[in-house]
Amino acid sequence: MTINNNAIPKAWPDVWVKGMIKTKNKMGIMTIENSPPSKAFIDFAKIAKKPLLDIGCAYGAVVIPAILNGAKVIGCDLDNEHLSILESSVPQEHRHLLQTTSDSFPNNLRFEKESLSAVHISMVLHFMKGEDILLGLKKCYQWLEPGGKLYIVNMTPYLGLFNWQELSKYYFERVQKGEKWPGEINCKNFAKGGWGDQLPEYAHFFDIHVMRSVAEQSGFTVDDIFYFCYENIPNKYKTNGKEYVGTIASKK
Ligand SMILES: C[S@@+](CC[C@H](N)C(=O)[O-])C[C@H]1O[C@@H](n2cnc3c(N)ncnc32)[C@H](O)[C@@H]1O
Repeated sequence: MTINNNAIPKAWPDVWVKGMIKTKNKMGIMTIENSPPSKAFIDFAKIAKKPLLDIGCAYGAVVIPAILNGAKVIGCDLDNEHLSILESSVPQEHRHLLQTTSDSFPNNLRFEKESLSAVHISMVLHFMKGEDILLGLKKCYQWLEPGGKLYIVNMTPYLGLFNWQELSKYYFERVQKGEKWPGEINCKNFAKGGWGDQLPEYAHFFDIHVMRSVAEQSGFTVDDIFYFCYENIPNKYKTNGKEYVGTIASKK
């Protein structure tokens, strides 16, 4: 935990399972540990000249340290209760650096062209259909200033919260068949017990190649793209070290 001398903000809901806090709107969980792309976004906050945007920020595990690094940050989340909790978790002396919006990405969220220095979007694209993801990332490209950065985290079909051997087999069969969006899958067919109502009917999974292609089709230059796994999550979700895909990309 990197917020405020290692203390979890008092306003955050209780930890549900190791390293994870449930969202209020049944849209999965917020991970307490910052992923490698999230850490890079938080570091970038030290040098950013324009505001940063975190889409699907939940209670602010990434927004808060980015603010503490001196950036103005816009926290975007569909759920107003998440945003209230975020607001009350930012130390008073830094509150002027926070702006929040519950406008939905990509259709309702709007910014001026070249008005942002970086966009972070972690564990949100899996709720979206492929064409909306493309539309959304193209919008991010427009909102970013030249040299601006995009940081994405998404789940792969290897995540052990599903029957990952079957799910990844099915995913790569879809890749082989040349499906345009091989990761659009009814994930309830592959769900293990425990997550019940936290899972959407369909989820969108990515491997490194499809993720790179989507970022490039949206105009971005990919600086780094890699598989990783969080450390501070239950061991049963860890499989082969490729449970998540992280992308760091630039608007050249
Ligand atoms: C699975 S949580 C991820 C939270 C955090 N970003 C993380 O990686 O731990 C998804 C969050 O994104 C929000 N969200 C989902 N779809 C969204 C959309 N289209 N626009 C804005 N927020 C969205 C949800 O309300 C939820 O708080």
